[in-house]
Amino acid sequence: MSDRDKLLEVTGLDVFYGDLQAIKDINIEVHKGDMVALIGANGVGKSTLLQAIMGLNKPKNGSVKWKGKEIVGMTTNKIAQLGIAMTPEGSHIFEDMTVYENLLLGAYPKHAKARREESKALVYKTFPALKEKEKQLATFLSGGQRQMLAIARAMMASPELIICDEISLGLAPIMIKDIYASLHTINEAGVSFLLVEQETKRALRNSNYAYVIVHGQVVMEGPSNTLSEEKIAEVYFGVDQNEEKGGDE
Ligand SMILES: Nc1ncnc2c1ncn2[C@@H]1O[C@H](COP(=O)(O)OP(=O)(O)O)[C@@H](O)[C@H]1O
Ligand SMILES: [Mg+2]
Repeated sequence: MSDRDKLLEVTGLDVFYGDLQAIKDINIEVHKGDMVALIGANGVGKSTLLQAIMGLNKPKNGSVKWKGKEIVGMTTNKIAQLGIAMTPEGSHIFEDMTVYENLLLGAYPKHAKARREESKALVYKTFPALKEKEKQLATFLSGGQRQMLAIARAMMASPELIICDEISLGLAPIMIKDIYASLHTINEAGVSFLLVEQETKRALRNSNYAYVIVHGQVVMEGPSNTLSEEKIAEVYFGVDQNEEKGGDE
């Protein structure tokens, strides 16, 4: 794909928490129209990487470029203004505000304010359940509806890229299916995605390119339809997994 279509380019990224190196020399790219998956077990550094992209932590080394421009060092607010939105792990909606008020909060970038009504119409078309509940406090939403609201809030920022941190965590399979279907609809409308997903099969099925992260490093990557679930399982869980098989009841 040409560089012209490149939205996000992370190169040589290192993030530390004190002496602990959470991510090591990470290189990833997202092109326009992509749904890119980051696959990895708990604690391998997926959220740390997303937070570094959003300016929520400070990398020790490396670069994050948005359309060719360095964004490391920018505030999260500035990064949002450029067209990147995130749904954080655990949705982080405001429970004591209504669904509608939560949505309005998402429309804070300057370019998004002007398109607020248009974005709201698109949100309600994508998630009719949120329209029905727009005047209710967000605290009354189900787990799946909370994730919908988090995605909807990100959509209100009128972004070109939405970064989702484990939107399927703890949800019923039917709800997960619905939510991924809506991500595809949003993607077809021109929004690119960077998705963190622990479940390999689901990650591959819902992306066109995937990276596998183990201990803070990318250990495997490629077009999602070329990656083998079995090979990912080998690196994901380590070789011990195979040795342990059969021994377990
Ligand atoms: N704020 C923090 N302070 C110290 N260590 C952290 C912090 N956040 C995450 N970590 C550690 O960094 C590593 C990567 O965490 P994280 O990025 O949350 O992984 P993942 O999202 O893949 O589960 C883990 O060892 C975790 O305990
Ligand atoms: Mg995480």
